[in-house]
Amino acid sequence: MKYDVLKILKDNEDNFISGTKISKMLNVSRTQIWKYILELKNIGYIIESSSNKGYKLIKNEDMYNDFEIKYKMSTNLIGNEVMFFETLDSTNTYAKILAQKEFENGTVIVADQQNMGRGRLGRTWSSVKGKGIWMSILLKPDIIPSKIQIITLAAAVSIVRAIKELYNLEVKIKWPNDILLDGKKLSGILTEMSCSIEEINYLVLGIGININHISDDFPFELRDIATSIRKYYYEKFNIDKIFSRSDIIKKVLISFEEIYKLITEKEFDVIINEWRVNSCTLGKKIEVNDFSKKISGIALDIDDEGRLIFKKENGEIINILSGEVSLN
Ligand code: BTN
Repeated sequence: MKYDVLKILKDNEDNFISGTKISKMLNVSRTQIWKYILELKNIGYIIESSSNKGYKLIKNEDMYNDFEIKYKMSTNLIGNEVMFFETLDSTNTYAKILAQKEFENGTVIVADQQNMGRGRLGRTWSSVKGKGIWMSILLKPDIIPSKIQIITLAAAVSIVRAIKELYNLEVKIKWPNDILLDGKKLSGILTEMSCSIEEINYLVLGIGININHISDDFPFELRDIATSIRKYYYEKFNIDKIFSRSDIIKKVLISFEEIYKLITEKEFDVIINEWRVNSCTLGKKIEVNDFSKKISGIALDIDDEGRLIFKKENGEIINILSGEVSLN
């Protein structure tokens, strides 16, 4: 019920609405409304009260919960169900447990903090409370397992679209799926799946985006190589502000749904082309970490399964499925 009150306040954000009006709309007493208002204030909402004008919700970019994420989110599949947690070990791990049970295709699991956030190649992923978007999307795509990489490419493209549309920032994709801002890591994607030879049972698309970190919020070893939207704004424009994780997550989910639709229509080319346009890897001299050794060469292109087409210094051309790239 408190969220019904919140919805009315949000629909009238920055304007007063009387307690009598809210109580009529919800068919509960004014005293009851006042109690819900207190509950909302207790969880961090800023609500002004005036004895003759009623209540006014003041915009607060920092509010982050399942209600905020779902509010005015116009998707049909992705995020139909949003599960929000204050703390999880890892949203990907939780999503995998959920996948063993019945789950809705497109379920989104979000945590404000992860204690054991996981990155690619067995690394940990720093997931500080209140600073970033740590989420997983549970999917059951109707594609063959060898095409799984297209989902990761689609996720990268949807993050780029969202950040560009919201803030017009020059974000780039480093193969296979790092999102860079000003050459530093803003976002990473960890895709995990369970499949047989012919079909995917389920897939967990884990997305981490650094949003409101200041430099000190990153572990020391990441300070020069990772960034957040807030850190970038501060360093570039000397503006220090909090960005709404709820708005950003919503935008990413909306873009992802648009692109996921292309996957269901088998329009892989469109996704691959948008990935190419936003890549900072293609055409560049790079080094690829192939297990223990580094090989130098040129990133020529990606193929239709998302593998990197790579020309070694000796002229040999190989397709690489996964690895770590450093730009020269
Ligand atoms: C990378 O190494 O670049 C991938 C990082 C993926 C991090 C996200 S945060 C949400 C989800 N849960 C995890 O434990 N990892 C992914």
